[in-house]
Amino acid sequence: MLRTGVIDVSLTQALRLVSPTRHHYFKPFSDIAMCENSTSSPCRGTVDTQELQQVALFEKCRQFTKAREMQGAGLYPYFKPISESEDTVVVIDGVKRIMLGSNNYLGLTHHPKVLEAASRALHRYGSGCTGSRFLNGTLDLHEQLEGALAEFLGKEACLLFSTGYSANLGLIAGLVGRGDVVYLDKLDHASIVDGAKLSYGETERFNHGDLGGLERRLERNGTSRGAMIVVDGVYSMEGNIADVPGLARIARKHGAALALDDAHSIGVLGPNGDGTAAHFGLIEEVDIIAGTFSKSLASIGGFVVASENVIHYLRHHSRPLIFTASLPPSNTAGVLAALAVLQQEPERRDRLWANTRRLQEGFRSLGFEIGPTDTPIVPVLVGPLEKTFLMWRRLFDAGVFTNPVAPPAVPPSQCRLRTSMMATHTFEQIDFALEKFASIGRQLGVI
Ligand SMILES: Cc1ncc(COP(=O)(O)O)c(C=O)c1O
Repeated sequence: MLRTGVIDVSLTQALRLVSPTRHHYFKPFSDIAMCENSTSSPCRGTVDTQELQQVALFEKCRQFTKAREMQGAGLYPYFKPISESEDTVVVIDGVKRIMLGSNNYLGLTHHPKVLEAASRALHRYGSGCTGSRFLNGTLDLHEQLEGALAEFLGKEACLLFSTGYSANLGLIAGLVGRGDVVYLDKLDHASIVDGAKLSYGETERFNHGDLGGLERRLERNGTSRGAMIVVDGVYSMEGNIADVPGLARIARKHGAALALDDAHSIGVLGPNGDGTAAHFGLIEEVDIIAGTFSKSLASIGGFVVASENVIHYLRHHSRPLIFTASLPPSNTAGVLAALAVLQQEPERRDRLWANTRRLQEGFRSLGFEIGPTDTPIVPVLVGPLEKTFLMWRRLFDAGVFTNPVAPPAVPPSQCRLRTSMMATHTFEQIDFALEKFASIGRQLGVI
């Protein structure tokens, strides 16, 4: 089961859900009647081989009708263009809606200091770096941000990537070589799974949270092979926190490196918003932390923090770092400012948690099933896909934006609407959303 982020993830799931089985409508090329004596151009009235190949390739596209059916039925929940954003309120199709599906946990995308820093950098450095970090694309801003993140997260060094997705690709494919094994929780994010696919090592996947299963796999493979355990610090669709103490004990016992993807933990967990390892007081025991700027840090980009040696190695062996352009100046400066605000305004985190408690308690007291979440990620179980999309649509029409989660991320009978809290939501907005959930949930027999 692939895990994905919020909107993009759900789309992937929907596409997979509806992707047709393979059809072999085409005869093998040897059967194609070609003109006698013709070497390159096909004769009139027959099909060009190249054209036929293209047709064969595109057949899957022709067969893919499910998304269009959903669009036709008015139930298609993806790619909704936002024409204006005021933080917790967005305008879609000319109507204001409460954003209950964002990962902007601290509400920093509109913070004046973030906007000011981004705008200053835009004018000082231009609109893009037009090159890789490795060559012409390193700015002093990148190095400042790497220094600030390493210090904030208690590690020696940091390496920036252009997205959180490529940070996981670069980390795993960069470190896990031939003969090494990477151990993944089955609910890990898709970028971790893809990083393992890109590496030359082997991948072992254990059931979600099954540390016994993980340990058995490590024992079977022995300690002579390089081993890395990679899990989400906070699981993106469920909102539960990884058992870092248990994972760290197992990693040490078996000589494995432990890496956390703290995409949903930075700014949310830890005494200073410094993530899952800090939340458990285990910064030393966690070897590597990867993360993203597309959530609490209100931008786009990713990072890996670790020992100086590991980061130095990744700088020279991580293809998703070397073969892509670096983070644009305005984003980098915006993230630096957001990281400073995160530390200067801890009351935002308090507010985020107060909002989270209100939303979680509200859902539970109404009778909704929200699973084992411990964080601002609050998935509301609806059931079958059709009902989930219908509920999504009714909430959307009532002014509440949520994200549907469909198979294969979840079993077909356990589709859900993923909601998430921001520090800047007001209690009035939360109560409004709960009221809409209650009435629509009753109409549809969800509660
Ligand atoms: C757990 C997790 N890791 C990584 C990513 C990828 O982050 P980015 O959006 O920066 O590519 C996401 C985003 O959805 C995520 O949820």
